Amino acid sequence: MKDLVVSRGGSLNGVVGIPGDKSISHRAVMFGAIADGLTRVRGCLMGEDVLATIEAFRSMGVKIDTRNSDCVKISGVGLRGLRSPTSSIYLGNSGTSMRLLAGILSGANIDATLEGDSSLSVRPMGRIVYPLRQMGSNIQMSGNKTSPLRVKSAGTLNGISYLVPVISAQVKSGLLLAGLYAEGVTRISEKGRSRDHSERLLTKFGVKLDINGNEVSLDGGQSLTGCDITVPADISSAAFFMLGAAISSDSEILLPQMGFNETRNGVVEIFRLMNADIEVRDQNVSSGEPVADIIVRTSNLSGVNIPQELIPSAIDEFPAIFIAAACAKGVTVLRGAEELRHKESDRISVMADGLRNLGVKVETYTDGISITGGNMSGGLIDAHGDHRVAMAFAMAALKASGTVSIKNAEGISTSFPTFFEVAKSAGLRIK
Ligand code: S3P
Repeated sequence: MKDLVVSRGGSLNGVVGIPGDKSISHRAVMFGAIADGLTRVRGCLMGEDVLATIEAFRSMGVKIDTRNSDCVKISGVGLRGLRSPTSSIYLGNSGTSMRLLAGILSGANIDATLEGDSSLSVRPMGRIVYPLRQMGSNIQMSGNKTSPLRVKSAGTLNGISYLVPVISAQVKSGLLLAGLYAEGVTRISEKGRSRDHSERLLTKFGVKLDINGNEVSLDGGQSLTGCDITVPADISSAAFFMLGAAISSDSEILLPQMGFNETRNGVVEIFRLMNADIEVRDQNVSSGEPVADIIVRTSNLSGVNIPQELIPSAIDEFPAIFIAAACAKGVTVLRGAEELRHKESDRISVMADGLRNLGVKVETYTDGISITGGNMSGGLIDAHGDHRVAMAFAMAALKASGTVSIKNAEGISTSFPTFFEVAKSAGLRIK
């Protein structure tokens, strides 16, 4: 799936099966690995990013049975049971694997090196390395404050109180995981609310946390107990189908049992502000996570000023939101979103380049973008290996006046290995 060619037009219809949530799948594997006893994970995403996490723990001596991908079984080795791997741990494209593992390895009293692909190797790691060092971790990064990360056994960590300078669930989670190994209390605060899957799932594994607004703390030394988890479908992957149904004519899709955690569902709020026809039904809770069925129909979208408070809960969905903006009446403006420059690609500049290639009027800022909706032509897009950029532009073909070709689209298998088949059967004219 290196290059995609999507012919113009068509509509999306029917029930769309979205794979398991990537963030929750990573955490289920990690927490299961350091828990005591067996953890069974149903609906685990078997995309490349989560497979990298699974391989990482296998290389540290954890038995993980993936023969039945519907029910991954992890034989936890306990907080102190990980072994030093015999070679570097390769994490591919996965920032979540790297930043959360940095926290676990800092406390686990083993030696390991974490490295990734060309995209992960330029993503900022100082944000996790500096606070881990404050906790006593012996962790090194490259001179550019990027990976590889080298962690050496450091004795006992100490808990810290730390205000994370960027809103980041990866940093918060990495520090909380290190905090499990630390003496005393680890207290992490944020300037806004990042996704709270770690808090919910650690609670399910029997860890006691105190949550007070945007501050979460835990006592070190608590052990995790293996458990059964059902992973909800990934709202970030569903966002491309929400986009596709909203911008194309005669469309109506049902997305069943989607994760509908309020720290993740900003995309639904933003699409609704843009006048999208979205219905949320049968809200429920599964394995401590809110879930719901989502129905999306053909919509007449309008441009909006995206409220900054919705950015953290929609942080991964901006490639889809930018395509919606290009199909909307009027101008859409996003500011305060510099973090988008540090994702799997620089999503402000890569999306702006792609939109311009489709004839869309775009202006960029250090921290955002303004997009004038109107007609989109066909054209050639470079996804720069970024899964979400590739999937967003694939959906743009539903509204474009010509074929949309996407190169460097191989990243799609990191989060949505079945995208091609699912999109085709829903009605996308994808090759
Ligand atoms: C993630 C957190 C977000 C998100 C990423 C997954 C997680 O990153 O962009 O795709 O699983 O914790 P940041 O926490 O760095 O914003």
